[in-house]
Amino acid sequence: MAVPTDTGIFEDVDAYIDGLFIPQDPVLDNALREAAAAGLPEIQVSPGQGKFLYLLAKLIGARRILEVGTLGGYSTVWLGRALGEGGEIVSLELDPLHADVARRVLAAGGLQASWDVRTGAALDLLPGLAGPVDLVFLDANKESYPAYLTHAVRLTRPGGLIVADNVVRRGEILHRSMDPNVIGASAFNQALARHPKLEAIVLQQVGLKGHDGLALARVK
Ligand code: SAH
Ligand code: DHB
Ligand code: MG
Repeated sequence: MAVPTDTGIFEDVDAYIDGLFIPQDPVLDNALREAAAAGLPEIQVSPGQGKFLYLLAKLIGARRILEVGTLGGYSTVWLGRALGEGGEIVSLELDPLHADVARRVLAAGGLQASWDVRTGAALDLLPGLAGPVDLVFLDANKESYPAYLTHAVRLTRPGGLIVADNVVRRGEILHRSMDPNVIGASAFNQALARHPKLEAIVLQQVGLKGHDGLALARVK
């Protein structure tokens, strides 16, 4: 199979896009600094992906957002900015260190909306959440994506949006795999494609985050 080895052009174009559309931003810069200082893995969405999530939330007029997988709150800031006064974002994070960083970042983030970072395994926290929410962003451990989808469908209002990061995994979803993240992403994509309450698509992405994909699903 042909695997692109020179991905430099994709990263360069991502940097070009980010340079054009995402000006210097003290809050986001602080989020990245805090995450690096605390030794968090650099797996947050790219600036362009963050802006895309923000635009999606604005386009559907979101007022309540649920995020699964907070890390240091970088994507939480982007999504939270799409919400005005009276808006609300809840983000679930397994690792207390990650959640602490995110809370510091959000406290300094100047959001108009209220935010709540809850620590715990998402599968323990999700059953206690009530909807409706307008948008769910899935970005935690991929092996549980199929189970997260069940909750996302339960919680999201008709016309609302479910977004999931990392559903292509360098194309590994094309093949049988032993990697639980790949198995989870693949099962998630299949469940998304055949779900009677969803209309969905996967966008393949290349660039600063390598080769991966973002799933978008509208609740009927
Ligand atoms: N959305 C973030 C990145 C999330 S990275 C951003 O773009 O800025 C994935 C996060 O999911 C990690 O912080 C990891 O600790 C968390 N995570 C992993 N397993 C989890 C689980 N079972 N429940 C909740 N969070 C989990
Ligand atoms: C990785 C990237 C992600 O966006 C994520 O949520 C988890 C892991 C990675 O590149 O390993
Ligand atoms: Mg991700």
